[in-house]
Amino acid sequence: MPDLTPPDTSTAMPADWARPLASPEAFAREQALLAHVWTFLGLADDLARDGDWIRATIATRSVFVQRFGSELKGFENVCAHRFFPLRTADRGNGPIVCGFHHWRYNKDGQALGIPVCEDVFGMVSRALDARLNPVEIATCGALVFGRFPAAHATQSLEDFLGDAFPILAALARWSSTPRLWSLPINANWRLSLHISLDDYHIAAIHPRTLAPRIDNYLERATLTYARVGLHNAYLTDGADGAFEKYVASCRDGSLQGSHYTILQVMPNLNMVHVRTDGGFYSCVLHQYVPLAHDRTLLRAWIYPAPFDGQQGWLARRTRWLTEPFRTPVAAHMVKRILREDAAACEQLQQTVGQIDRPPRLGALEERIGWFEESYRRLLDEARSPTE
Ligand SMILES: [Fe+2]
Repeated sequence: MPDLTPPDTSTAMPADWARPLASPEAFAREQALLAHVWTFLGLADDLARDGDWIRATIATRSVFVQRFGSELKGFENVCAHRFFPLRTADRGNGPIVCGFHHWRYNKDGQALGIPVCEDVFGMVSRALDARLNPVEIATCGALVFGRFPAAHATQSLEDFLGDAFPILAALARWSSTPRLWSLPINANWRLSLHISLDDYHIAAIHPRTLAPRIDNYLERATLTYARVGLHNAYLTDGADGAFEKYVASCRDGSLQGSHYTILQVMPNLNMVHVRTDGGFYSCVLHQYVPLAHDRTLLRAWIYPAPFDGQQGWLARRTRWLTEPFRTPVAAHMVKRILREDAAACEQLQQTVGQIDRPPRLGALEERIGWFEESYRRLLDEARSPTE
């Protein structure tokens, strides 16, 4: 039986919790601290061949990841010469050559092919020792993560994710690479995370999409909310040990879809495992990328889940026939729900300048308090003692 006492938000959310939502300066300070947190960048599928690269963002700074043989290397997407962006598309293949003056970089980010270097800089390229800002890269199954190095940022991705690691690794599997869908949102990224952790808004915001499926309000006693280190999970299974069972079956590959689950990974990644029809399940990997204090980019990958629920022989045998219809229908529904959430966040953004106290969170909003607590911990860890 879950604890139904409303969560205590006094420690998680101070009175000025909304400042980075309203002030560009406070947002910039927050993002500078989050640059050292492991952040999801993209799919390893897009980095399969030698020379493949993807562009992404860590805490509003443009970065790119590139494959060099067996290694993945990450760099800030800014030339060491005059700060031109080296990668000007979301993905591609080829050597690192700046489009502004043709500076060429090796796999360690050192400029070794600087045109007429001795003539214009008075020395050979190697002696100039111009380097790109490195980004640390690590993977969890097919997912690529990165962070900017810092003295305090010593935790491995595996330790940072904890029990979230086997869940992500198990669910981020597909037979063909899922396509990216993105949606710009005119609201702060934390509002989008909040609504994804809010199980109370369904009747008001999703009256035609989700509310009829659950009879408007979820019953807290039928749900499991689990803290997973800094991260958290939700299962529509209130049984004792439901989460522990879920993690164990992800680890040994025996997972069978039987409930709706959502895993929230700090700072801004969500993985949903949801039933579409019969025993068939879909996954929705989605991320709210901060762009400005009042702008966010939602990136989502919707694909058939690698683990389905129980189904009869007929459903299994005809899967190849039904699959081409199932994924677009599921994607259509998911996009509609995510758009409804985005529209609510854009309304919320209108009043962020008027917020002078923590919100009143109920038992169906408990995970918002957890998210905010983890968010503050990440900021505190990154803050230097002099600040
Ligand atoms: Fe929603």
